Amino acid sequence: MGRLILVSNRLPVTIQDDPSGQTVSRSSGGLVAGLDPLHQSGESIWIGYPGTNPDQNVRKLLTEMRLEPVEIPSSQYSGYYEGFSNSAIWPLFHYLLEHCNFDPSEFDDYRRVNERFAKKILEHAQDDDTIWIHDYQLMLVPSMVREKLPGARIGFFLHIPFPSVEVFRVMPQREELLRGLLGADLIGVHTFEYTDHLSRSFRRVLGLESRHGIVNLSGRGVRIESHPLGIDTASQRAAAYSDEAEQILTRYKRSFGDAQVILGVDRLDYTKGLTNKLEAFKLLLDREPRWRDGAVLIQVAVPSREAIGSYSDQKSELERLVGEINGLYGRAGKTPVQYIYGSVSPAELGALYRLADVALVTPIRDGLNLVAKEYVAVRDDGAGVLVLSEFAGAATELGEALRINPWDIDGTASQIERALDMGFGERNERMSPMHRRVVENDVHRWVDRFIRSLGSPESEISATPPMLSSSTLAETLAGPFAASEKPLIMLDYDGTLREFTPRYEDAVPTDEILGLLQDLGGLHGVEVYINSGRDRHTLGEWFDGLNVSLIAEHGSWGKFRDQSDWTRLGPPPDLTWKAEALSILEDYVSRTPGARIEEKSSALVWHFREAEGDVGEWQSLELTSHLENTLASAPVEIITGSKIVEIRQYGLDKGRAYGIVEVERGPFDFILATGDDRTDEDLFAQLPPEAFSVHIGQGGSLATSSLSSPASVRRLLAHLVSVRS
Ligand code: UDP
Ligand code: G6P
Repeated sequence: MGRLILVSNRLPVTIQDDPSGQTVSRSSGGLVAGLDPLHQSGESIWIGYPGTNPDQNVRKLLTEMRLEPVEIPSSQYSGYYEGFSNSAIWPLFHYLLEHCNFDPSEFDDYRRVNERFAKKILEHAQDDDTIWIHDYQLMLVPSMVREKLPGARIGFFLHIPFPSVEVFRVMPQREELLRGLLGADLIGVHTFEYTDHLSRSFRRVLGLESRHGIVNLSGRGVRIESHPLGIDTASQRAAAYSDEAEQILTRYKRSFGDAQVILGVDRLDYTKGLTNKLEAFKLLLDREPRWRDGAVLIQVAVPSREAIGSYSDQKSELERLVGEINGLYGRAGKTPVQYIYGSVSPAELGALYRLADVALVTPIRDGLNLVAKEYVAVRDDGAGVLVLSEFAGAATELGEALRINPWDIDGTASQIERALDMGFGERNERMSPMHRRVVENDVHRWVDRFIRSLGSPESEISATPPMLSSSTLAETLAGPFAASEKPLIMLDYDGTLREFTPRYEDAVPTDEILGLLQDLGGLHGVEVYINSGRDRHTLGEWFDGLNVSLIAEHGSWGKFRDQSDWTRLGPPPDLTWKAEALSILEDYVSRTPGARIEEKSSALVWHFREAEGDVGEWQSLELTSHLENTLASAPVEIITGSKIVEIRQYGLDKGRAYGIVEVERGPFDFILATGDDRTDEDLFAQLPPEAFSVHIGQGGSLATSSLSSPASVRRLLAHLVSVRS
């Protein structure tokens, strides 16, 4: 097991140039808070930018801390950091288009700096190392590293939200960013919602399908998983219960007397909903005079990205509001808003968490929000109340918090009041389960789960099978096939036995195919199946009179060779969704020249092989999203195959049909299965390990080998016929 190489824009320490030399201080923010415990407790190295290029002495100190500084020339830094990272990706991913500025030259700087990070990684990485790249500042790095180190194990974690595709596709460099991420084996985000958004963006923007959370590339699979970051509970609590914290707490208690304390701790960022928070607090004081003396809001605002205009504007607005509230409701010895502009030490933060009756966390959008979790971790006395925005990723795990929509100032004010009025019983009832959950799912567990998942063989699920010639494969199969007493051959039809035709109804079997099937079906003891997505009437008509069994509509129907009627193999039909789906498909047919609908008993198919250029491809992406949203609760699956979008009833697939055949007609001592598209992967997944499975065409598959075309499948089958004739 090699080393862990952590990579992020920010290192856990920040260097500043002072007239008297360089100073080193602790960095702020959730990313550093999450990764530092991992780095402290292991042997990792951490590659990042320390704020400025270190001098000799500081460089030595960094080496001792296993920190590797990336040097960034100032000519590139601002375009990369203040520019593309924090004035394009950051605001867009937080749904704040009004703060976005998409400047191509800043993207050039972003790319150049990402190259510097990749180069630094390549200087250090060895074959068996695990490379874990973090956050939106470095989205191109995974592919840059993959290109040079194809076999590397690369993880990527996004600490901010991944927005809905409707917002993401605003990004002019949307394709480059997604392609950058695809260099990773595993992409982690904080919530299921973000995994969903990311998968949809891969499909909509790049046309890349994901299945069970895996994007299939030729040769590799890229997994997308949700792993909500945890906190270092032990050190949070140690700091909060230290002697230093005790003294600070005593001091604070003395100065606030009986007033209840509401606490806010945020980087000074426009995503944190700071003005919404102050407006809600002001509204509470406006309408409820009892809180003018009865409550105080301590707001810690940690300086952040001050060179960016939208951040300095936010600071001025905040200071104006603080002044307004204190002007209206403050008096000698009473200041309703205690505003701390700066960083606080871990002990002071811990003391504040212990002091606060209410933690008020109000982001208008936040990837997760660690402050909410830290407060919960420290409050095992059960006496605190967490008021939490529904737009923070952490809200999915902290369901017992008092939930707010920060845009609803009136509602937020009411929830703050409800928190202040809440008795110990309810506070404790809400806090205790959250406390247990946060302690259990701490940062060590987060690291463990991510790293384990990164190393798990599932990442290899979509490896590319070796592409063989039909004669090489025939040589491998000939012996076992000849020796077998009960062989099974299961063949897909379109794209496997028969080449596609522009119109799907024209792909009738040729004489060559019919002859082959006749010969195969005539071999003693050999069971031959056509396992197709086609409807049963077409299959029945085409293969009538041959000694082969038929499975239609992805396992809905079966007709064994010695039967004259079809039997239903799938669950009873539930077609409640069909009318609605049909009207959507018709709509897309009317706006896509060349597209057509095929109706089957338990499925509908939208074909676009005949559509012009990439119009069909583009419309199919839109159609898929549309169907997924509209039919979200219908008992259907939406699958995309070769130039088709198919909606079919749940519980039907080719693998399930194989299972039925195996039970009714097996066991078989030789199995050969062939197929070319996603629906055949269901079959390959069900086969026993000794089976031979063949994928037709390039790309990833669960099959054991690949052939290039239907013609080579036919050559293979002809060879097999000769082996047993
Ligand atoms: N924090 C800090 N310095 C401070 C106050 C807080 O480093 O003066 C920490 C805080 O404890 C938390 C992190 O900064 O761990 C903020 O993370 P969060 O996820 O809430 O927001 P982010 O800053 O990452 O957007
Ligand atoms: C958020 C981001 C981090 C970033 C932190 C502080 O947590 O996800 O990547 O490090 O904010 O921001 P800064 O720009 O100071 O690094």
